[in-house]
Amino acid sequence: MSKNTKKIDTALIGCGYWGTNIAKSLIAIKKSIYVFDENQDNCKILKKRFPNLINIEKNLSNILVNKKIKNIILATPPSKNYKLLKIFIKNKKNIFIEKPGLKNLKEIDYFKKLKNNKILMFGYIYMFNNYINFVKKFVTDKKNGRILYLKFQRQNLGPIRNDVSVSYDLSSHDLSILYYFLGDLPKKLCENSYPILKKKLPDISNLSAKFKNIYIDIHNSWLNPDKVRRITVVTKKKMLLFDEMKKDNKIVIYNKYAEYPKISEFNDKFFRQKAKIYFGKNYSPKVKSNNPLLDELKYFFRCIKNNKKPFTNIDFARKILKILDKLY
Ligand SMILES: NC(=O)c1ccc[n+]([C@@H]2O[C@H](COP(=O)([O-])OP(=O)(O)OC[C@H]3O[C@@H](n4cnc5c(N)ncnc54)[C@H](O)[C@@H]3O)[C@@H](O)[C@H]2O)c1
Repeated sequence: MSKNTKKIDTALIGCGYWGTNIAKSLIAIKKSIYVFDENQDNCKILKKRFPNLINIEKNLSNILVNKKIKNIILATPPSKNYKLLKIFIKNKKNIFIEKPGLKNLKEIDYFKKLKNNKILMFGYIYMFNNYINFVKKFVTDKKNGRILYLKFQRQNLGPIRNDVSVSYDLSSHDLSILYYFLGDLPKKLCENSYPILKKKLPDISNLSAKFKNIYIDIHNSWLNPDKVRRITVVTKKKMLLFDEMKKDNKIVIYNKYAEYPKISEFNDKFFRQKAKIYFGKNYSPKVKSNNPLLDELKYFFRCIKNNKKPFTNIDFARKILKILDKLY
């Protein structure tokens, strides 16, 4: 135990892959935290990394009865969250719950109906990513010409979930970004999903839509040889590529485009039918990289301090879940 546990007001539930990353950021903000995992070995691994800053709780009820603990961070699998969220809301805690949070609309609607003056925030990390904010500005800047096409690629080998599909796990990120860019989401997406490793649980998914006159592709896989995290934007006059895996120059703006010449410009039928490609200079804008997880958690604590409804609130999460709910 750390010397003064009296001041600790935050507990992390779930010390798996993502919980470990969250712990690092929480410690940077809060200095010391409580942790609980139903697999206590995972708590011990975490404590080894931060011996003086992690206080392991052996059961959940200790956290519930501890009135000093006001804030809960849930980094548990979505299949466990309905039950956990119910308990913590009943005990009047402020809650940060990792995306996509709940499994379906029925579950999230249960919480939407509850009256509670505590903060409930969903962990959609890309909303706190400086590069994504840059791409959003590019997408919404009329000077770049009309947006024609958006492509999202999120592929890797693992982590392979056994309680939710690849869309549910990964497209939730891309849908949150799409929602952030366009301020709305298509009602329905066309889907081609492939359950390869396990029946009824797709490992690869291809989603597409035409929305606000923009063609959209979302490609996700946890069965891929390399890690890909890319967003492509094609506008009438420019193109942008955001490659999150690149060390430097993650964003490149291409001053190039293709179009068919206006019919009046050519009398010759051959030229009228040939698309022209225009090339200009490419450049990589300077974007100050940040630690999105740290900034996201800081924002959560600011919302608590100022009693402000978070941007990624239950309505935001529901909008994404509404689409996920319709998928394979
Ligand atoms: N924001 C992001 O970029 C990001 C990245 C990865 C994962 N996530 C999300 O984080 C959540 C967790 O993912 P993960 O990859 O860490 O999974 P994980 O399986 O590695 O870890 C989950 C942990 O929760 C524990 N757990 C399960 N049920 C529990 C319960 N009832 N009480 C206490 N502990 C319990 C497990 O023992 C495990 O240690 C998921 O919702 C996932 O979508 C978000």
